[in-house]
Amino acid sequence: MKIGVIGAGSIGTAFAKHAADAGYELVISNSRGADTLEEKAKQIGGKVTAGSVLDAAESDVVFLSVRWEQVADAIKNISLEDKIIIDATNWDGEEFVLAKPGSKTSSEVIGDFAKSTKVVKAFNTLYAQVLAADPQKDGGKRVIFYSGNDSNAKAQVSGIINRIGFAGVDLGSLHEGGKLQRFPGGSLPALNLIKL
Ligand SMILES: NC(=O)c1ccc[n+]([C@@H]2O[C@H](COP(=O)([O-])OP(=O)(O)OC[C@H]3O[C@@H](n4cnc5c(N)ncnc54)[C@H](OP(=O)(O)O)[C@@H]3O)[C@@H](O)[C@H]2O)c1
Repeated sequence: MKIGVIGAGSIGTAFAKHAADAGYELVISNSRGADTLEEKAKQIGGKVTAGSVLDAAESDVVFLSVRWEQVADAIKNISLEDKIIIDATNWDGEEFVLAKPGSKTSSEVIGDFAKSTKVVKAFNTLYAQVLAADPQKDGGKRVIFYSGNDSNAKAQVSGIINRIGFAGVDLGSLHEGGKLQRFPGGSLPALNLIKL
């Protein structure tokens, strides 16, 4: 399985390092082009290459880790239709804080925009430095919460989470789980749990 990272910043790099250590093939991308990521790809090591956003989008799974206000620009020229998208973004707009009960969660919005029913929200609740740390801690594994509407996509993402050393906790649908994972506003962000 090849994973494309769109947004090789703090979160994207932390994820890529764990995935590379676990043997996944990855292509990392940013807004400035592959040349600016060659050195980072080398530092991460393993089967990681620097590529364009298009290269990343052609992977089996896309890990989306740009800032909320960058999402539309990052994915406007690529096709992610029915692609498995791991959405690590957090909606930081005022509209989010004011969202009424029943309105869409941020990952539902991304699913609509990307035309994918296979969005899995994950890796958005830990601070980047915590996500980057060793997931094996005190005899247990650090918890990654995830939610999504497509059971096959969730199974694949759960497999990635486990293989890279974390303990996945399924929160249900994007609508229900996404509310718990919301930052700010949800009850789970910044919670650093170890599953023993
Ligand atoms: N930092 C945290 O502790 C944390 C924790 C949980 C969730 N999150 C969420 O994770 C997401 C990423 O946060 P971050 O802290 O990792 O951000 P970041 O360090 O600023 O990284 C953002 C990355 O996105 C890239 N990017 C920007 N515009 C792009 C475009 N149009 N096309 C492709 N790539 C583009 C940037 O590349 P360039 O530098 O080339 O523009 C950069 O590599 C955010 O939604 C944030 O809310 C962050």
